[in-house]
Amino acid sequence: MYELNKLQGFEGTQELKKTSFSKMSKEQKLNYTLAHMPGCDQMGVLAKSEFQKLLESFWHSDSHLQKIFDEFSENTLSNFYFPFGVIPDFYLNEKKHTVPMVIEESSVVAAASRSAKFWRHRGGFKAQVIPTKKIGQVHLNWNGSASELKNFFLAMKPQLIQEIHPLEENMRKRGGGMLALELRDMSDLEPGYFQLFAEFETCDAMGANFINTLLESLGRKLRFLVEANEEFFETDRPRLEIIMAILSNYTPECLVKAWVECPIAQLEDPSLGMPAENFAQKFARALTVARLDVNRAVTHNKGIFNGIDAVVIATGNDFRAVEACGHAYAARFGKYQSLSKAEVSAQKFYFELEIPLALGTVGGLTSLHPLSKFSLALLDQPSARELMGIVASVGLAQNFGAVRSLVTTGIQQGHMKMHLINILNHLQASPEEVEKSKNYFADKTVSFRSVRDFLSSLRVYQ
Ligand code: MEV
Repeated sequence: MYELNKLQGFEGTQELKKTSFSKMSKEQKLNYTLAHMPGCDQMGVLAKSEFQKLLESFWHSDSHLQKIFDEFSENTLSNFYFPFGVIPDFYLNEKKHTVPMVIEESSVVAAASRSAKFWRHRGGFKAQVIPTKKIGQVHLNWNGSASELKNFFLAMKPQLIQEIHPLEENMRKRGGGMLALELRDMSDLEPGYFQLFAEFETCDAMGANFINTLLESLGRKLRFLVEANEEFFETDRPRLEIIMAILSNYTPECLVKAWVECPIAQLEDPSLGMPAENFAQKFARALTVARLDVNRAVTHNKGIFNGIDAVVIATGNDFRAVEACGHAYAARFGKYQSLSKAEVSAQKFYFELEIPLALGTVGGLTSLHPLSKFSLALLDQPSARELMGIVASVGLAQNFGAVRSLVTTGIQQGHMKMHLINILNHLQASPEEVEKSKNYFADKTVSFRSVRDFLSSLRVYQ
């Protein structure tokens, strides 16, 4: 272990100026960070070395693996663990899956598993990918006439497309590439503002690097062509400036629909505590509330993302992109609404989630993180389209579980069981104390204080 006192030289900001933080070794970064923690002046060497031990205890014992984790990001000090769990026997499109989930919130995996079990004998989940197009934009400033730029773009479009051919070659072999390219005049919103708007198919890759590389190349080429063809324009010294070239995480045409349905009578289940017909009506009413009221809609959709994010993270995909896109889609009619909907007729219960999901199953973290690789193997190496279906169905399962609890027993019953376990772990309860506490709190309100008092009472008599 690295000795703290060997690193005194890194404690002063003066030293940091000489040795930039990012260039330090991991041990040096760790020591520098501890030496600059709030209260570090009062913190004894012992306390610092406890923190050091804590962070080091989360390093992977296999240094090769640890190096991989370190290099995912920058300025890495340690690893931050989240639980990796599964939903067993999740039926989607007649196929059984074991679905991996990475999430820290208690009750999420339990709720999804419970929904999976509920729907297993009621036809399972169904999913269908609608389109899979992704979008990218080159945002432009143009000081000349709009019609001249439009004509110029049309004349040069074949050259622009030609320019990116070599970059697309591998993607084309897999059936993807750039699908469409147009010039959009945005100058009614902002004088001089135009965009190159492009659509892409990226097959099983999330495709962010692919799209961004193509966009930057298109932007450079267009500017070059404008500069090389001044005679085309009447404007004196026409100037095209690239503001930025970047994919859009809004992918409303990379869309998947997941649903469950059954005759109302089949919903009958003792755990509902009410007749199936009542349950179906209450459930549909809860969905209407989530469509009409933004306060409820956000919480409702958060429940959907509990499931979606957990699978997206487990499979090494970008959950921030998925969230940002999903919330924008929820507001596509000018008002933020529920992403799911329920239809209850005299005979039938139908519950659906439609959501854009830009996911990949090759490249990026999916093939670098050992647990993402495992997740994809567990899912039988799905294509990106199959993964879209799985992720959307888990979002729907999660939503069904949450709304089902809300309109029947209330959410706290399930949450409190997990909350009790978390408190008992925090108070380092023995297995025997855990059992006694579970029995005792079966019909009582769980709070940190009540659990601590109960444990103290047990411990007094030992
Ligand atoms: C908690 O993480 C998620 C819920 O609030 C979702 C919902 O209210 O639908 C239970």
